[in-house]
Amino acid sequence: MSNKRSHDTNLMWGGRFSSPQDNIMEAINSSIDVDYRMVLQDIEGSIAHVKMLKFQKIISTKICNNIINGLKVIRDEVNNGKFIYDRKFEDIHMNVEKKLYDIIGDDAGYLHIARSRNDQVVTDFKMWVRDSIQDLVSKISENMKTFLIIADNNFNTLMPGFTHLQTAQPITFGHHILAYIEMFDRDKNRFIEAKNRLNECPLGSAALAGTSYPIDRFFTSEKLGFDKPTSNSIDAVSDRDFVLDFLSASSICATHLSRFAEELVIWASDGFAFIEISDSFSTGSSIMPQKRNPDAAELIRAKVSNITGSLFSMFTILKGLPLAYSKDLQEDKELVFRSYDNLSLMLEVMNKMMKEITINKDNLRKMTSSHFITATDLADYLVKHFDYSFRKSHQIVGKLVLKAEKLDCDLKDLKLSEFKKMDPNIDDSIYKILSIENSVNMRSSYGGTSPSEVKKRVKEWKKKLK
Ligand code: ARG
Repeated sequence: MSNKRSHDTNLMWGGRFSSPQDNIMEAINSSIDVDYRMVLQDIEGSIAHVKMLKFQKIISTKICNNIINGLKVIRDEVNNGKFIYDRKFEDIHMNVEKKLYDIIGDDAGYLHIARSRNDQVVTDFKMWVRDSIQDLVSKISENMKTFLIIADNNFNTLMPGFTHLQTAQPITFGHHILAYIEMFDRDKNRFIEAKNRLNECPLGSAALAGTSYPIDRFFTSEKLGFDKPTSNSIDAVSDRDFVLDFLSASSICATHLSRFAEELVIWASDGFAFIEISDSFSTGSSIMPQKRNPDAAELIRAKVSNITGSLFSMFTILKGLPLAYSKDLQEDKELVFRSYDNLSLMLEVMNKMMKEITINKDNLRKMTSSHFITATDLADYLVKHFDYSFRKSHQIVGKLVLKAEKLDCDLKDLKLSEFKKMDPNIDDSIYKILSIENSVNMRSSYGGTSPSEVKKRVKEWKKKLK
């Protein structure tokens, strides 16, 4: 009886076992519930592998064709949602191989010549990560396009800029939005770099030492869209740097989304009222009828935790792990799949939410005219016109702010006599300097907030994102 069970359950490696596994062993050992997501990559990898085996005359054309036909049947079943994954067969590799036995019989046994699950899994996984990077990059690009339209429409919309979340200087809304386009662009490049770096094919490294069969690793590498085969079989099966790369690129991108989501939450709050998030991305309160909560933004803000958490989990799995393959590495896929799912959702929601956002331009303008927002312009004016040191003019303006605060008015509401009391050189051109429009227009240094600069950057991004 024990024999039967070991044959049934471990067709692939049961030969040297005489008693069955404990039931709970399946629960800890089986990864099919997670790695079924690599089924198409697994089939593609196997097709390339048997083609190579045939090409190298390691297997006959007949066996090769049988295997490929069987794999294609499996692929069809997968695509039609008919393929049944079975925990009994541990992982995706053995599920596919077992199914191949069911379809073509013993010829299936030739598929695993000159490979091991160790090189197979990392090949499948690299292909999966490569595909998911492609998808994330295009989702980031979609966000960039949406953000760019907003930046373009608001190249001269005034808003208060903050440091320490305290009113700092007037800026343009378009400029603020363009800041995120810069971040997204770096995110995209980080993913593309990660993809380029991972693109070496591990297949043929076998368990860890390579193989004695006359295989052609360049053949499979090319068939599977890799740049070249990996050059060290031990590294190939134990390397998960590409997972760290993927998770760190994802963490950084998710962090950017989280930062922006936080700004949306603040901007949508009653105290700010800079924007309105549409009904379709808000929720109500079960007790307070007046409430409209920015839940989608809050969830984007929070979901980054899954991704950075996965990055740290992966570091912890790899830390101190000796070469070459150990089963610890099976835990990598859940982290990547979960991170991809989260990031992909965050990007989709952000994009849609932003398409429907309302910008309260009037309120933004109003909020920009408070809190002595043009004090720096006044200090700069004194430096430029009277050759004062910046520290001296900083002092003078500081005193003027104090004065205005006492009188409960803004700097521009102070009488000329008040200004003159502080510094007799000041004349009434000061009022132009204190205007918000003047303040942003003047900040036309390269990459600055002036509408003219923002227009230029928008134009450049339009070209790049075409
Ligand atoms: N399911 C395994 C994983 O994801 C495949 C490799 C198993 N290799 C082994 N020698 N047990 O890592």
